[in-house]
Amino acid sequence: MSKTAILEIDGNKYEFPVIVGSENEVAIDIEKLRAATGAITLDPGYKNSGSCQSEITFLDGEEGILRYRGYAIEDLAEKANFLEVSYLVIFGELPTAAQLAQFEKDIHKYTLVNEEMKNIIDGFPKTAHPMGVLSSLTSALTAFNPKVVNVENEKEMYEAVCKTMGKFLVLATWTYRKSSGFPLNYYDNTKGYVENFMRLMFELPTGPYKINPVVVNALDKLFILHADHEQNCSTSTVRMVGSSHAGLFASISAGVSALWGPLHGGANQAVLEMLEEIQKDGGDADKFLAKAKDKNDPFRLMGFGHRVYKNFDPRAKIIKKAADEVLAELGVNDPILNIAKKLEESALQDEYFKSRNLYPNVDFYSGIIYRALGIPTDMFTVLFAIGRLPGWIAQWKEMRVNKEPIGRPRQVYVGAPLRPFKPMNER
Ligand code: CMC
Repeated sequence: MSKTAILEIDGNKYEFPVIVGSENEVAIDIEKLRAATGAITLDPGYKNSGSCQSEITFLDGEEGILRYRGYAIEDLAEKANFLEVSYLVIFGELPTAAQLAQFEKDIHKYTLVNEEMKNIIDGFPKTAHPMGVLSSLTSALTAFNPKVVNVENEKEMYEAVCKTMGKFLVLATWTYRKSSGFPLNYYDNTKGYVENFMRLMFELPTGPYKINPVVVNALDKLFILHADHEQNCSTSTVRMVGSSHAGLFASISAGVSALWGPLHGGANQAVLEMLEEIQKDGGDADKFLAKAKDKNDPFRLMGFGHRVYKNFDPRAKIIKKAADEVLAELGVNDPILNIAKKLEESALQDEYFKSRNLYPNVDFYSGIIYRALGIPTDMFTVLFAIGRLPGWIAQWKEMRVNKEPIGRPRQVYVGAPLRPFKPMNER
């Protein structure tokens, strides 16, 4: 028998259907609430509101579970590669060897970016933050690809997926090449996707670039861990913008901006900046821990806490292991990383952090690995964006295929009631 929920307002009872997800998550369907009662719900930050039904990612914050399309993140991170996981996230099934090879080949058709894009990049000052530039460049792709993809047409949608996967990676690295004054590189279709990322970033015309497979493997894993995370801030933004039937590039450009903030993807950069600040201040991690606990101090421990994980972030567990391996393999001995370890140890034993379930999140460790890999700090969030791209595409596609209505929340107005207009000379 299907469940229902009863709501009583001023003595009147209303019945609403209860929806149960495939992992037994329970939601009260209030689609008809306003029509039936005249009332709306108020839920700042959407802490209790589901915006959609989705088949892409399952996340249980209490149990520390994350699965893409039913597959455990631990298995995917260990046994698959990033393009394979991208295919899974976007199209719903793990690809066969032939499908994966074809996917990569089809992405290769779109790895060349229009040369005119370079004029746009030249318009930015060298000091511009790469995330701002990436958001603008992604939006600029609409100028070169003005036709909005028809989601009903599978072939068109598939091409749009390949195009986005190809061009976004190149543009992401161009933001760094521009800021460092190096010539812009081209994708090499004979090399793998993640290897291309490193070459696009660091290969110089003056000499051969030797790729370290340990670095490529670590990055591949990091991209997999970031590939989707259900209705987080940037993904909800992508769905929201796309719900007005704006195109895929325009929606992803908005997602990049949402990701940039330090409470979201920008936290990986903020973590490193915080660690550098602690180092400059003499390296006393406990002093900063005390600052984070002080309610009169706005300082927060960056890379700690999560909106949905009230247990250990499963991605953080995998990254922590990868970080240990990478640091050992590369022989990195960095005082900043020692501060990070000290901070982590102290916070995990501290009552304030324990009682609030504040654990290190994915951004705490990813920042540490990126630093060990030689990635410049202000590119950290760009790497998050590259990893999250398949998730944004998949969620945009799902939202359009399911014909979801335009996103348009309501509000409770608490401003002034109607007032007579005051002419200028009476104000
Ligand atoms: N340092 C110190 N105190 C904290 C922190 C922190 N990092 N995070 C939460 N708290 C405290 C907060 O002050 C509050 O205390 P009290 O109950 O006494 O008022 C309590 O913990 C609950 O915090 P909240 O702000 O209500 O939790 P939220 O779910 O709204 O925020 C968060 C989640 C991720 C924005 C927050 O934990 C935070 O600002 N963390 C630091 C930034 C960060 O690392 N962000 C990356 C998130 S993971 C990946 C991603 O989304 O991109």
